[in-house]
Amino acid sequence: MKNANTLETQTHATKPNAPLKGTVRAPGDKSISHRALIFGALAEGTTTIQGLLEGDDILQTAGAMRAFGAEITQKSQGKWIVKGCGKRGFTTPKAPVDFGNAGTGARLVMGAASAFNITVDYIGDESLSVRPMGRVLDPLTQMGAKFTSTNSTLPLSQTKGGNLKPFSFTPPHASAQVKSALILAGLKTRGTTEVIETSITRDHTENMLEAFGVPVTRKSIDTGSSVSIKGPVLLKATNVTVPGDPSSAAFLIAAALVVPGSDIIVENIMMNASRTGLFEVLTEMGAFLRADNFRKSGGEIIADIHVKYSKLVGVTVPEDRVPSMVDEYPILAVIAAYAKGTTEMRGLAELRVKESDRLVATHALLSQNGVATKIKGDNLLVTGGVLPSGIKGGACVTTHHDHRIAMSALVLGLGTKNPVSIDDAAMIATSFPDFFDLMSSIGAPITMPKPH
Ligand code: S3P
Repeated sequence: MKNANTLETQTHATKPNAPLKGTVRAPGDKSISHRALIFGALAEGTTTIQGLLEGDDILQTAGAMRAFGAEITQKSQGKWIVKGCGKRGFTTPKAPVDFGNAGTGARLVMGAASAFNITVDYIGDESLSVRPMGRVLDPLTQMGAKFTSTNSTLPLSQTKGGNLKPFSFTPPHASAQVKSALILAGLKTRGTTEVIETSITRDHTENMLEAFGVPVTRKSIDTGSSVSIKGPVLLKATNVTVPGDPSSAAFLIAAALVVPGSDIIVENIMMNASRTGLFEVLTEMGAFLRADNFRKSGGEIIADIHVKYSKLVGVTVPEDRVPSMVDEYPILAVIAAYAKGTTEMRGLAELRVKESDRLVATHALLSQNGVATKIKGDNLLVTGGVLPSGIKGGACVTTHHDHRIAMSALVLGLGTKNPVSIDDAAMIATSFPDFFDLMSSIGAPITMPKPH
């Protein structure tokens, strides 16, 4: 009789016999895809989106926007049409709005919907239901919306929205989701809604609101930077081209840095400076990473990145890098396992409230596979290159419903002595449905269980 947990029944990665080679196109950016659907749904008129990421998180947001009254249709792969609610506004959904695994969808929509005088019930999956929503509910409540929840987590309800008061808020955490939720809540508010950030987070909401005809004021002030809008203001439908996701491209780039002799090009990567912290760190570690063919698409700068396997050294990653690479720490930690010396990643408290406690999950995935790693406070230390015989591997990693932990574990397994497997691959489809196909196209042996 076969053991239920053999490699045959688990998604796993093994060391390839040959270097990884090829040219691949990064999938559409998750942050921009959520925003394109939400902004299209708020706008007056018809928005056409090209290159939408068709991951599960984004499909949940599309479902939510339909529930609030927008008409959304897929025309062809990546091409979507959104007929917005415009002047009529969001209407009360007939059933609970389900965000699945998607924190960005949930938090941005809570902000947008709070501007309307409607009631809404919100639900999510097991992972989303333990993530903190107080960070958006509290300031939205101060603006005049009302919510009921247990412990500020999902499931929760908006019992009153609309007629909100103008507000200036300094979020205690660096969070683009919180900034975006408040700015969206301010769209129908008479007066100025302002968010002051002490560390700058991704600015896709600001950029895309401008593309939808909303003036956004951005100022550098003594305490950081201020983003504000003056309401009421209605979005005007536009066309959005979604650039490639640097956070997904990171897994392809990492695979090439793990497998000796690899040489790949990842095309169409968004190079917005609020997202490229990982590329800076990898360059400091000694990676051959060259961005070519810079061009503008959909209001963002994009480029093709050429990466070659390189001998890397450990570095210290200061806390101020966190906002520009907040989702990239699990994969950076995997890369650090193959670098000489210790990489210290500082100030990772926010990782504890992602799809899983990513600080703990990243530490576990590495240590179970024989990598020397330590958590010190909110810092993660990874020491690579100390085992003459290479990294042992061989463990089955618990992914805790977290797509980035799943993909990081599989990339680790491209260089370990024994294959690395994961307990559940389903979540990978939330952000990177083509992960297996793209990895296979560059020659990375990442295998899904064979259907019976
Ligand atoms: C996102 C912001 C980040 C990031 C998430 C996407 C966004 O979250 O981790 O994957 O699209 O605004 P926080 O705002 O919680 O840092």
